[in-house]
Amino acid sequence: MDEPQLFLYGVCFVTVLLAVSQFGKSFLDKVLGTFRRRQSIDYFKLSGVPPPKPLLDFNVDKAQARPYRPFRWSYHQTMSLKKMEPDYWLELESTYKERIAQRKALHAKHGKQIIDALPGSELACRELMEMAIQFLCVRYPKQFHFDGRTLYNRILDTKSKVDEEDPLVVLNNNVPEDFLLTLPDSKTGLYTMVAGVCCSSIGWNVATKIGKPLKEIHNVVPDYKEKMEFSMDRYFSKMPTDKPIQRGSWGLEIGQPLWLQDGDPHFAVRTTQDPNLKIEDIYLRVDWQTLRRLPRSRSIVFNFKALFTPLSSFRNEPYIPHLVLKVLTEGKKNLMDYKGTWHIEHKVIPALEEWCKEQEEKGWVPEKWEVRTLDEDPYYPGWKKTL
Ligand code: HEM
Repeated sequence: MDEPQLFLYGVCFVTVLLAVSQFGKSFLDKVLGTFRRRQSIDYFKLSGVPPPKPLLDFNVDKAQARPYRPFRWSYHQTMSLKKMEPDYWLELESTYKERIAQRKALHAKHGKQIIDALPGSELACRELMEMAIQFLCVRYPKQFHFDGRTLYNRILDTKSKVDEEDPLVVLNNNVPEDFLLTLPDSKTGLYTMVAGVCCSSIGWNVATKIGKPLKEIHNVVPDYKEKMEFSMDRYFSKMPTDKPIQRGSWGLEIGQPLWLQDGDPHFAVRTTQDPNLKIEDIYLRVDWQTLRRLPRSRSIVFNFKALFTPLSSFRNEPYIPHLVLKVLTEGKKNLMDYKGTWHIEHKVIPALEEWCKEQEEKGWVPEKWEVRTLDEDPYYPGWKKTL
């Protein structure tokens, strides 16, 4: 064999080797991926977060979320974190069927504004889906079953083949919860949003936040830079897998807007104080949020669920009217502007004043009670009786 021939054979050999190794790699990935899944990783053990207690007589149509009322006074921008209770990472309640249908429709209509993932986030997305499935099957054993390949959802009577579907789509079709995933950026080391499935967002969406570090994601949040940026970055770099935390964000809305983007006609209602607005049309919206680190990918995931409660419920919730009234009337202006409460205040403030008086007359709240964050935060005294 002469030299050029040898060279040609050499090139051919290397090309074939590369092609085979590429094919081999994706084949191996698939087999290994499937094999690993069959192994059924115990994420409870791996993360150090114990499994939830199974709810054997759970009825989704009757289930109520706990009445989260994350109102604080004094009201400053702080992380205000609480330890996550392992039973309550994902909480299903009576809006489940309606909410999943709404989520599927939003995804079909808005695509990457609802679900998107950057290259490099694959393991994290898959792991998150597997953890969520494991949680659902333990917590709601009569409603969910997983055989290693297929998730059986007995509430909706659907099946999700996890090896064939996008993990974030599996989540969207089964879990009425939003998930934003972060990983440290390879150049800056800053935690950056690399993937998300999110239907409950007002004025932003997955497409407007993906690829951004925490400080940019939060650049519209008042006092973030001064009060939170430093502690958040430090918190993220140190967060262990066995210490998930929870917190709540709240707003007051007309109706129950889940997904609202600039330009939507509903946004216009936020710029006026409608004299005909009725109290029964005003709702508290609470986004109950969890932050946890996944044990394999090390991704930090932020998940949250929007819960709506008619404002009129406050009438029967001791101390809540006093707290909300204080925040609305004396809260820091930049925080209240960000929350956008002005458009309902003309109706809400007089109603709260009336309910405060009523609760004092009934002896539920001492007269001249000095408003402060409740010991029961994020609930109120007697809340357990309401469930
Ligand atoms: C300990 C962790 C975190 C804290 C304390 C926190 C805090 C906040 C606060 C105070 C707000 C303003 C609304 C409110 O009152 O709650 C906010 C908004 C927001 N946060 Fe976070 N956050 C955290 C983690 C994350 C993560 C990991 C992501 C995404 C990967 C994220 C995405 C957002 C988004 C998209 C908004 C809405 C911003 C907008 O209005 O455009 N947050 N966050």
